[in-house]
Amino acid sequence: MPKIYIAGCGGMLGEAFYLQFRDDYELKCSDINVNDSWLSYMDFRNYKAYKDDTAKFQPKWLFHLGAHTDLEYCELHPDDAYETNTKSVEYAVTIANDLGIPILYISTAGIFNGKKTVYDESDEPDPIGHYAKSKYLGEKYVQGYANNYLICRAGWMMGGGPRKDKKFIQKLMKQIKNGARELFIVNDKLGTPTYTHSFAANTKLLIEKQMRGLFNMVCDGFTSRMEVASELISLIGLKGKIKTNPVSSEYFANDYFVRRPESEQLINKRLNEHGINIMRDWRASLRDYLRDYYNGYLIDSLNETDLQ
Ligand SMILES: NC(=O)c1ccc[n+]([C@@H]2O[C@H](COP(=O)([O-])OP(=O)(O)OC[C@H]3O[C@@H](n4cnc5c(N)ncnc54)[C@H](OP(=O)(O)O)[C@@H]3O)[C@@H](O)[C@H]2O)c1
Repeated sequence: MPKIYIAGCGGMLGEAFYLQFRDDYELKCSDINVNDSWLSYMDFRNYKAYKDDTAKFQPKWLFHLGAHTDLEYCELHPDDAYETNTKSVEYAVTIANDLGIPILYISTAGIFNGKKTVYDESDEPDPIGHYAKSKYLGEKYVQGYANNYLICRAGWMMGGGPRKDKKFIQKLMKQIKNGARELFIVNDKLGTPTYTHSFAANTKLLIEKQMRGLFNMVCDGFTSRMEVASELISLIGLKGKIKTNPVSSEYFANDYFVRRPESEQLINKRLNEHGINIMRDWRASLRDYLRDYYNGYLIDSLNETDLQ
């Protein structure tokens, strides 16, 4: 089986890559957060450790997945953000070039300024905070210096479940589990959810089809934070039992002080052009995600009114 080295594989996306690729490829998965038995420790800010570990494995592909994804952390710790999200990408490109193999880099819809409503691969990024800048610089480095590369851009990530999901869906599910029957949801943000398993499966297809270059890769259908929250409530059977209060982003200014683009909606133009878009509708993906990862999660927190 062809070998793939996956760096920064311990997070919500890494888990889906591991599960989607493991039957057809020999994998070596590393992270600084060794939270599964199939992970080993490797800090990709350490060039020598990165180079030695990959050289020993002799992969046919290098997937550089990991990053600091907390926007507020990145804003408060810019040095670590650029070292983790940009400098390590430079290391990865050098390593892949030296080994003569292609590199996969994961970018984000968050690199746009949000002034347009929908972005395709020809739109010019204009990142807002340090997280977005550090990710865009990584993308530019790959495009400028990697001899052989794939860049896939994700949107609002859904995946990993209660154990690994650091983002919107788990934040809502956790509040509901803790008894909240009233949620405050921003009504001024548009985006495209991205289910980690579909993203990993579509990446696998790109590799099998020997595609290269930059691809947007998000679920079908444009939406908003408010609509995602309403759909989630309906899917978990609590429609009418949980109230959603629309608020502007200002409401969360203390906790989420990094400005987010008004729109991070991507369209998979290049996947469509090549006839290789297997990303599914965001509602169907959210349903699959909740079914696969949250079965029984809320049981202890439901009361009689919820169940009526
Ligand atoms: N989450 C999103 O909404 C989103 C959207 C678009 C694109 N992306 C991109 O998708 C990729 C995967 O992100 P994710 O959502 O899976 O985030 P995640 O769950 O935070 O996973 C990232 C992993 O990278 C690890 N990591 C951080 N610094 C490292 C280092 N120096 N060496 C090795 N591993 C390191 C993290 O460890 P710790 O847990 O210890 O930090 C974490 O396990 C990232 O490139 C991200 O920028 C994410």
